Amino acid sequence: MDVTRVPVSLGERSYDVVIGERLIGELREFAESEKPTSSFIVTDSNVGPLHADAVQNAVVANRVLTIQAGENSKSLAQLGRLYDEAFATRQLDRHSLVFALGGGVVGDLGGYLAATLLRGIRYVQVPTSLLAMVDSSVGGKTAINHATGKNLIGVFHQPAAVFCDLHFLKTLPDREYTSALAEIVKTAALSGEELMAALEESAGKIVVRDLPTLHSVIEACVRFKAEVVAEDEVEVSGRRATLNLGHSLAHVIETAFPERFLHGEAVSIGTAAALRLSVERAQLSGDVASRVTALLERFGLPVEAPAELGAAQVLQLMETDKKRAGHVVRFVVLSELGEAGALPCKLDDDLAALLLGRANA
Ligand code: GLY
Repeated sequence: MDVTRVPVSLGERSYDVVIGERLIGELREFAESEKPTSSFIVTDSNVGPLHADAVQNAVVANRVLTIQAGENSKSLAQLGRLYDEAFATRQLDRHSLVFALGGGVVGDLGGYLAATLLRGIRYVQVPTSLLAMVDSSVGGKTAINHATGKNLIGVFHQPAAVFCDLHFLKTLPDREYTSALAEIVKTAALSGEELMAALEESAGKIVVRDLPTLHSVIEACVRFKAEVVAEDEVEVSGRRATLNLGHSLAHVIETAFPERFLHGEAVSIGTAAALRLSVERAQLSGDVASRVTALLERFGLPVEAPAELGAAQVLQLMETDKKRAGHVVRFVVLSELGEAGALPCKLDDDLAALLLGRANA
């Protein structure tokens, strides 16, 4: 299978996203070209036993720092432990290199570690989950969570490179794989007809993890994200914020039901809600909303909010949304496929009813 390189063009912070199957040779070459004084792999208790040895041998890493798998590890306590372990090696300096080998949690935490160690050192994203390959590993968002909400402490710190090795997808648990398809459908809704039609046509192959199909889907998602990030690196113009389609309600669901939903599952429910809002308040055609929602369902993703989630809880949790201004939340909406923008919405019962897909009593 070919190796594709998608450039993320950010001046002196530019880098490539390398996509292919079995990229160990490419990783080795990259590590050699960087000539780091030392290097560290951050991974988790699921991925480490499967893949850390091969990556450690390829990049000649000094230490593998392993965190417990799961969202709870994106914490100040876990970050503190990583600082302690990294400094204890006495091999850390400004020319050290961090490899974040894992899914979104490892990428966010490892990236934040690299961003803050010695005021910022270089790091490489080696995403092992589909979700991290198509979204979180690209664009330099790094963060940990706070009790108030997800990703509330973080910085933008672009990686030196991203290696999306399709080989990792073979060992990804089914539920985790499927949940990532929500971010892919979201990307198609934002990017337009071409990717949407391609996903509809190849849905069967995607479900069975056909690697050549996944290669082209991942490449399309990364190309789209690279274009958005190049235009609005630190989310000021509003273009990058449109990548958060479906995420306002998703964050509410993840906060209200921390163990019950994977991020992608929550994004799927949130995207269906954002499409309802778009139909009601942004002139999106009902047919387009149904088409996108049908694709989410075809991939086996949930599109209904849990019955126990009430309007009052939605409104209360949205109060803590970090993109909130007063009692108004800026929702990402579509006016047509590929046309997204922000719609300021007052936090009230009508909004909650619309998001939850329930009539306002
Ligand atoms: N995941 C959205 C972004 O990177 O901006």
